[in-house]
Amino acid sequence: MESIYKKIWQLAIPFYKKGRSYDIIQVRWMMKEGDRIADLEKIDKKLLLPLIILHDVGYSKVKIKDPHIKDKDTKRVHMREGAKIAAKILEQVKYDPELAKIIVRYISIHDNWVFGDDWPYKSSREMALFNDLDFLWVTSSFRAFAANGKSMGLTPKSFYKFWESDEKLTRRPFCCSATQKIFDQSMRRIKQQLT
Ligand SMILES: [Fe+2]
Repeated sequence: MESIYKKIWQLAIPFYKKGRSYDIIQVRWMMKEGDRIADLEKIDKKLLLPLIILHDVGYSKVKIKDPHIKDKDTKRVHMREGAKIAAKILEQVKYDPELAKIIVRYISIHDNWVFGDDWPYKSSREMALFNDLDFLWVTSSFRAFAANGKSMGLTPKSFYKFWESDEKLTRRPFCCSATQKIFDQSMRRIKQQLT
């Protein structure tokens, strides 16, 4: 990964340390997969990677440690605060101001699905891939899966049932075969680990 993204990541880490217990591993996973799939799908990394790296820095301003993953209030706060922090970090690294403006806007609406608004993901390929990765991280390991289920008060078994028919799958279908493949493989792996 180019050094500019590494620099942005270094500036984001202190915020993530104050965020949710799994933010750092989540963003690391999304960066790796985002970098790989952007090459396959010819998606603009100048928008995608800073969006991935900075999208959840706003959890540093949320009082609850690991909030319910569909709670509207925390979603609203973390998007608003995250956009402010991201703007400062992008300015600090002297990121192209035009691109920074778009990234900050994306961050301010990145979880708008929680309010029933899927327009951001339909209007931008970066946002569509971002949303796929944000969703797919949940099944990237059994540990991540269990932690997300726990935030909703669900056991891994009942969370599996919930996740295999999550509204994401029909409202915001996977943007490409690469993300569909990750979903199919990781759900199969999680299923095997359920006892
Ligand atoms: Fe978020």
